[in-house]
Amino acid sequence: MNLHILVLPGDGIGTEVTREAVRVLHAVAGKWHHRLTVAEGLLGGVAIHKTGDPLPPETARLAADADATLMGAVGLPEFDDAPPEKRPEKGLLGIRKALGVYANLRPVRAYPSQLDSSPLKNHLVAGTDMVIVRELTGGIYYGTPRGIFENGAETRAVNTMTYTRAEIERIARMAFQLARGRRKKVTSVDKSNVLENSQLWRRVVTEVGREFSDVELDHLLVDNCAMQLVLNPRRFDVVLTENMFGDILSDEGAVLAGSIGMLPSASIGDRKPSGAWTGLYEPVHGSAPDIAGQNKANPLGAIGSVAAMLEYSFGLKEEAAAVNAAIEAVMQSGKVTADLRPPGSPATTEEVGQAVCAAV
Ligand code: IPM
Ligand code: MG
Repeated sequence: MNLHILVLPGDGIGTEVTREAVRVLHAVAGKWHHRLTVAEGLLGGVAIHKTGDPLPPETARLAADADATLMGAVGLPEFDDAPPEKRPEKGLLGIRKALGVYANLRPVRAYPSQLDSSPLKNHLVAGTDMVIVRELTGGIYYGTPRGIFENGAETRAVNTMTYTRAEIERIARMAFQLARGRRKKVTSVDKSNVLENSQLWRRVVTEVGREFSDVELDHLLVDNCAMQLVLNPRRFDVVLTENMFGDILSDEGAVLAGSIGMLPSASIGDRKPSGAWTGLYEPVHGSAPDIAGQNKANPLGAIGSVAAMLEYSFGLKEEAAAVNAAIEAVMQSGKVTADLRPPGSPATTEEVGQAVCAAV
């Protein structure tokens, strides 16, 4: 198969972790005789530095041409005081929208070999296996009006949370379909005791749920969900939620997996005529500028994202399973980065990448 990939390393540790993920893609391509071509593009702070734009038009064009895109991370402290429109993050939001990847799938698993990496008690975390399905191209991240408005002596900041029925329906269908291949349970998360947006969300999810009578559906308020995630994480199979709630809950989920460096994600839109998914693959972690350039970052989230790419964008289930098995084998061997607190001296980013390749 021809695999034409665009890599957007972005900022901070993005460069290091995507390098290892691409190394693993080459190992897979070599073993299964696929023809891999890799292009590279600019996104985020590095793109602002080189072009003045966090999402240069050239990057959007390269992404549209590629079969799938792998993103590292965006964000640099020097932009902390810049308005949202001029920040690296704006590039990521822009490319998600441009590719129409409205469903962000974030699997959270507690690997038996990593239970001690979680600050939570082992017996609470053991057996955790869920996917957070985060709506990715709507809600308060994109709603208008937005901005900071000066009006005489007073200053007002406005953001708008907005969802249409159609936007909720398509993400809900994605969640129910995913649940069918898992433990057949969807938990929809909202704040319907306060927000009209959430009232529509709950109503539409309930309606879509009737089409999936084989899948159990329950609803949780987001504050309660935040608590249940750490009290009883095994109760969750598929967690379906809107953009900002999903952003927040998935960082909380990272505590269950031992480290945010572990978490992969797949951002997908509709199927292409070929049956493959349009996809943007991104580890959940950020750019971690404090450890950037030190060969310390955990590349497993990026490598897991490549496994998701093989599965969703190329339908290469055997290859995807091999990468996931290799990740598990490497974790069991104890050759992991410092964030996972290995008993011996921690491995470097590069060593972990090489070990995954060897295991593949
Ligand atoms: C994430 C990140 C992004 C988001 C930022 C970098 C814009 O936190 O993917 O979780 O909020 O979506
Ligand atoms: Mg986030």
